[in-house]
Amino acid sequence: MDNHTIIQPETRYCGILDAIDTTMEAPAEEPQRQYYYMAKSREIIKEKELEYGRHLRANVTTFGCQMNAKDSEKLRGILEAIGYRQTESEEADLVLYNTCTVRENANLKVYGHLGLLSNLKKKNPHMIIGLCGCMMQEPEVVEKLRKSYRFVNLVFGTHNIYKFAELLYEVLERQLHAEQMQQSPGKTDMVIDIWKDTAQIVEALPADRTYSFKCGVNIMYGCNNFCTYCIVPYVRGRERSRRPEDILCEVEQLAKDGVKEVMLLGQNVNSYGKNLTKGFSMDNHTRNSAMTGLGEPVSFAELLRMVEQVPGIERIRFMTSHPKDLSDELIAVMKHSEKICNHLHLPLQSGSSRILKKMNRRYTKEQYLELAAKLRREIPDLSITTDIIVGFPGETEEDFQETLDVVRQVRFDSAFTFIYSKRTGTPAAVMEDQVPEDVVKDRFNRLLALVQSISQEMAMRVEGQTLPVLVESVNDHDDTLVTGRLSNNLLVHFPGTEELIGRIVNVHLTECKGFYYMGEITS
Ligand code: SAH
Ligand code: SF4
Ligand code: F3S
Repeated sequence: MDNHTIIQPETRYCGILDAIDTTMEAPAEEPQRQYYYMAKSREIIKEKELEYGRHLRANVTTFGCQMNAKDSEKLRGILEAIGYRQTESEEADLVLYNTCTVRENANLKVYGHLGLLSNLKKKNPHMIIGLCGCMMQEPEVVEKLRKSYRFVNLVFGTHNIYKFAELLYEVLERQLHAEQMQQSPGKTDMVIDIWKDTAQIVEALPADRTYSFKCGVNIMYGCNNFCTYCIVPYVRGRERSRRPEDILCEVEQLAKDGVKEVMLLGQNVNSYGKNLTKGFSMDNHTRNSAMTGLGEPVSFAELLRMVEQVPGIERIRFMTSHPKDLSDELIAVMKHSEKICNHLHLPLQSGSSRILKKMNRRYTKEQYLELAAKLRREIPDLSITTDIIVGFPGETEEDFQETLDVVRQVRFDSAFTFIYSKRTGTPAAVMEDQVPEDVVKDRFNRLLALVQSISQEMAMRVEGQTLPVLVESVNDHDDTLVTGRLSNNLLVHFPGTEELIGRIVNVHLTECKGFYYMGEITS
């Protein structure tokens, strides 16, 4: 495999692994090195299969956002290439938690699950327990695991996720060694590998997609915004955009594989391309940009135009837009696009200019309102959703009233509301005037009531219309129904069968049930 061989995520990897000579030394370059370790690990897994007389099962549990969900698809792809079968159950041979730390409760959930795993591991000492993702980038967490959770086998972070195969191989080797020395495989030392940051983007590794018809595509990693409450920039590192030709190559491959909807992912997609410069690649590929005719830095709006050209892709979504960077060019592209969905997630966080300044959001209440009004004017059927934090340090009742005022004026189609959570290491954690818990809870409930009543009214907007729906699944509660999504992201349930999954069909929206629709297929 030379540097110019681009292995797309969807390539079936077995042939590739068979061609690798595992008696040779590991190659130094990526991603070849990881394929080598997949092949080495697969040899061990095959032996275990013979020994146990069954396949080995792996469970990957994801906490947190779409970025983590996407990373989990990569982790599952690697496990599948090694020979593990996926399972939903945590009674497995390998359990990997891909963690989140954006709020404290995300963190607590992981410790809760670990308690349960320690019991399962007592029954099966061969079980491998791994932890990765954002929470692992916090030194206190790793210290706590090292001290009090010694049954964990593997800990790695967000920057070296691509090294999973190599790290897992080390764990498997240590277990083999322990068995040969007739020690308990449960007592091997933890493999820990955490990097502070990275400038590298390693791609072309396997991926196991959760859905056949829709898929997330990373367009950038990390964040440079440093909102004062937020831990993401510390655990995901600096902003790095992927090259447009790499993104397009992935989208084309997905389309060939039958994917109809892509979701372009980044912490702030509106600043896509800002750190891309001509002729400079942070990628590990050495492809010649002249081959594709690209190579110039492009804006997010331009990238959307390019993705729109990919045949087979019928819907484009993206997450998340920071209001400070949302350009008129983007609004124009959205307005004229046939494929970009009628949905924009535009986190407000607070409606008070004073609090927004303390949050380092770099827009005011007025600027946000102006932007929302412009969006509603230009794209009248656009669904605007948001994130709001209640109880940021120093938030007064007047500040909170400003937030309610923005909610009333913009009339969000839906909003995720969060209680401020203190994250160690962020500037807000040491700000004075932390708001008392009872005050925050009372504000949170008032906000939620307002948001919900407006969302219900907004959801009614399309009642009686016939609109395209991408069918996603058979209904969880009633198997005579299927469930799909409108372009504006609302769910619709209607009579239908499994064969419709992955198809875009026209559905008459007969009845709005608050946050979702009941409908009837018309074509
Ligand atoms: N990059 C995205 C958000 C990622 S985190 C953006 O800028 O919009 C998702 C949401 O979690 C944020 O929008 C914010 O509302 C919330 N959040 C982040 N840190 C938080 C904290 N410390 N406490 C409560 N909510 C928080
Ligand atoms: Fe966090 Fe702000 Fe970056 Fe979003 S833009 S990830 S809220 S720092
Ligand atoms: Fe959580 Fe990391 Fe996403 S902290 S919200 S999983 S980027």
